[in-house]
Parts: sequence; C-alpha cells; structure tokens
Amino acid sequence: MILSDSEKKLLDGSAGEASQIAMSVICDLGDLYDARRLIPVSQVHIDTTLYMVEAGAQFAERMAHLGAAFRVPTSLNPSAIDLVRWKEYRVPPDFLENNRRLERAYLKMGAAPTWTCTPYQHGLVPRFGDQIAWGESNAIAFVNSVIGARTNRYADLMDICAAIIGRIPEFGLHLDQNRKAALLVDITDLSIDTKNRSDFYPVLGYLIGELAEDRITALRGVPADIPVDWLKHFYAAAASSGGVSLVHIVGVTPEAQTLNMCLRKGKAPETCFITPKMLAEAEAKLHITRTGDLDLVTVGCPHYSFNEFITLAQLLVGKKIHPSTVFWAFTCRSVYHMIDNCGLLKVLTDAGIMVFTDGCPLQYPKGSWDFTSVMTDSAKFANYSYSQTGMHPAFGTIEDCVHSAVKGCIRKKELEWKSC
Ligand code: F3S
Repeated sequence: MILSDSEKKLLDGSAGEASQIAMSVICDLGDLYDARRLIPVSQVHIDTTLYMVEAGAQFAERMAHLGAAFRVPTSLNPSAIDLVRWKEYRVPPDFLENNRRLERAYLKMGAAPTWTCTPYQHGLVPRFGDQIAWGESNAIAFVNSVIGARTNRYADLMDICAAIIGRIPEFGLHLDQNRKAALLVDITDLSIDTKNRSDFYPVLGYLIGELAEDRITALRGVPADIPVDWLKHFYAAAASSGGVSLVHIVGVTPEAQTLNMCLRKGKAPETCFITPKMLAEAEAKLHITRTGDLDLVTVGCPHYSFNEFITLAQLLVGKKIHPSTVFWAFTCRSVYHMIDNCGLLKVLTDAGIMVFTDGCPLQYPKGSWDFTSVMTDSAKFANYSYSQTGMHPAFGTIEDCVHSAVKGCIRKKELEWKSC
C-alpha cells in the first residue's frame, strides 16, 4: 500500500508502540485485500466488548497500558452483562471482573460507554457517505443499508486497531463498485397483510440471509414507510443467517431510490421471488421448541428502542408476568433513562419485567439460572439460541411473547403467510 508520511511514522513507531502495533495489523489487512491506500474513518464501533477469551482482554489491556488513545469517536457494543445491575443478573464475581477489565481498558482509551448493539439508534450516528469501521453484524448491515455510511464487516481486534490509528484500508464496501447488488429478492407478490405483520421482517431477514450468503442484495416490494424498528430486526436476522453486510431496499436505502441505482450497469442479477411457503419454512427453523414449557422470555436483541418499550407497556396493561416465567428486556443506557424518566420503567417492572442495560442476552451467565425454554420476538436470538445457550427457542410476535409470559407457557397465534 502507498502510505503517507504521517502513516509511515505510525508504522515506524515514532508515534508510540500502540500505534505501531495497530498500524502493522491494519497494513497487513490492507495487503491481504490488495488495498491501494488507507482512508480516514470518521468513527469506530467496537465489537470486542464481550469477555470471551483471555487474549481479547489482554490485547485491549496492553494497548491501554501502552498509552493508546482512540483518534476518532468510538462507541462500544454490549458487554456480556449489565455493568450496573449485575447483582440482579446473578453474575459470578470472576465473570464480572473479566468484563470490568474490558470496561477499564476501553474507557481509558477514550471510548464512549454506549454498550449497545444499536449505535445507529442511540449512539454516535454517522452520516450518509461517511467511511467508518464498525463491528457487530446487525449494526453493519443497518448502517450500510439504511444510513448509507460505509463499512466492511470488521472482525474483533481490527476495530480496536482502527480506532487507535483512525484509518482503514480502502477495500470492499468502502468502494462504490463493490456496493452493487448481485442478487435481487422480490416480495411484490406478498399480501399487504403479510407485510404488515411485525414478525414478517425478522422471518424475511432470516430467509434472505440464507439466500444471499455474503452477496450484496437488492430487495424489491417493501413499503417505503417501513418502521425503523422493523428494519432493525430485518437486518439483524439477515446478518445472523448469512454473511450479509448490505441489502439495498429499493425506495428506502439512499443508494437505491430506484432499482437501477443499485445494479451494475447492463447486468441483470439473479432474481428470487419469495413465496408464502418459503416464509413458513424459514419461520419453522426459528421455532424449534417441541414443548409448551416456558422459563424465559427475552426481548431486546438487538437492544430495544423507546418505541418498542411503549408497545410492550401497552400490551401489559392490567396484566402480570406469570410467577414461573422470567421476562428480560435489554436496552442501552440512554433508553433506560428515558423509560425511567417518563414512568414506563415502573409500569414494566410492576408487571414483572426485568429491564437490563449494557448486556447481551446471548451471553448471560447461564450457570446461575436454570432455564431450558425460551421465547423471543428476535429472529437473531432465535437463530443463535440453541448453539449459544442450549435452549430450543420459540419465536413469535411481541404480542405472542407477552401473552405467553402472562400464561406461563408458550402461546403462539398461528397465522398463514399470504400472497396478494
Ligand atoms: Fe445485540 Fe447481543 Fe443480540 S449484541 S444483537 S443483543 S446477540
């Protein structure tokens, strides 16, 4: 790669050892992808925020110890736990301490303590066209597709290095020519009733992830007024079942106000028409529990927004969660404070819901709870549930989740997916 004089100084150690290490990692990445040069990024979102292996924590600690300071605004994905209400979460002390190590290292280097996987809703929100370096698959797919900022799916530790030097190699989705669709998915034949169901977009996202794998995709037939929270669940699901980082929704994505805008000139992509049968099969893969038992309902994967809490509170009027069921809702600190300030938090906790910030439901310390069955409104959580928590998930709408939690057993309204 061609490096500027200031970049050469980062690499030769003139700016300190931490910058030198980060620069050498980022240069190796650029060489791997035949990038011609580095480009500045306006912000970074770090995904290496869960204590999973000792090496990750030691890398962050070492960089902080060497005096690294993030050069660009940097936000943080969720920790494994609620860093404030960890006792209610029954977090073992050693698990807490390991997550605190990451917290100390990142705050020392200058990260914003956002601890959320929805930084595009409540964090450092980039603008259209910004070059950024984000980790966390749902956030990457959303920010590329809905906002039109540009990032690849950056792996753990690359995000820390990018924040330290404020640069990333120019390759992949940072370049115009790599943002064109290779697959067209068409849903124009599905009925409006189907498209108005809150569980439609999570199921569709899961299906598109399987179809697209890592191809850039265009999606035709989505109403332009689709709510932001439905987009959030759509992209989270797509990025969990496939290597999805950009799905152009025609009429929604800034770079795809028309279909032609996101296609390579003169090249018709492979086209796939979604049928009710395909949706039913995708839904069945997310709802694999074989019993009606229900220990846990978990929502907020990705983190719940203020609007989603309003819906949840409305569904709970006059109801209480069954004593045999635990109901967890996950969000970020700013939304937690908003629902606390306006009285919604009390409504939710009075009904029996536990609201957590900072954490990720997939990473909860499993040993201290005795759950075997779980229900969720998140296709991403349902997709990962068995492999990461050992629980066979039930997937449903938020209405299904509340109804089931109140009854203490799984209750799902069976509706058919329909064509026009
Ligand atoms: Fe967020 Fe954890 Fe789900 S990081 S998207 S709550 S798996």
